Amino acid sequence: MAITTCIFDAYGTLFDVSAAARELADRPEHADFAPHWQSVARDWRLKQLQYTWLRAITGDHTDFWQVTQDALDWALEAAGQTSDTLRADLLQLYEHLSAYPEVPAMLQQLKDRGHQTGILSNGAPAMLDSAVQSAGLGRLLDQVLSVEDVSIFKPDARVYDMVGQRFGCSKDQVLFVSSNGWDAAAAASYGFVTAWVNRMGEPIDRLPGRPDHILSDLSGIPGLLS
Ligand code: LAC
Repeated sequence: MAITTCIFDAYGTLFDVSAAARELADRPEHADFAPHWQSVARDWRLKQLQYTWLRAITGDHTDFWQVTQDALDWALEAAGQTSDTLRADLLQLYEHLSAYPEVPAMLQQLKDRGHQTGILSNGAPAMLDSAVQSAGLGRLLDQVLSVEDVSIFKPDARVYDMVGQRFGCSKDQVLFVSSNGWDAAAAASYGFVTAWVNRMGEPIDRLPGRPDHILSDLSGIPGLLS
């Protein structure tokens, strides 16, 4: 079946999750943080994802904003960076992450060609709303779907089920795009056509599902549909 609907993961795929720590490290008042920003950004993301997987397995769900704060607290303590101001400033920037530069034009091309577009994310609705508005993407997305509607994180199948339920399409009419190898693998196993955006040239995840397409950024997405 032809693809009608393009669904994007949010954090790391449309929005640059390293941007908060990187931007803060440039501010003179946070000079002490500059040598630590890369390890904090890496640990923050790693712990954030681990906590989502663990909470999905144990059924102990809380929303992604809480998980994001818990992960940041772990990362800051590991780096010996325990200033309350630093923590508050990082969280404030995380609420307004930049989109990758190619995102608006790529989404516009999809809309011009008549495709439905949406986000399917672990993010809590308020976080997603803030990120979408800050990046000016609101008019380019038909729907923003949050796992909070099913109270469990990816890669539980109930999350991927939301796409068919909300867009009224079958699995093989969906192109699912993620920069998270594990998310692309799970979506492929689920039955979506998938694209893995491998910005960092990482090895492919050794999981049962394999993405149909591998791209180095999002600019090639419209080309996959022609
Ligand atoms: C999301 C995380 C996985 O947006 O990046 O769902």
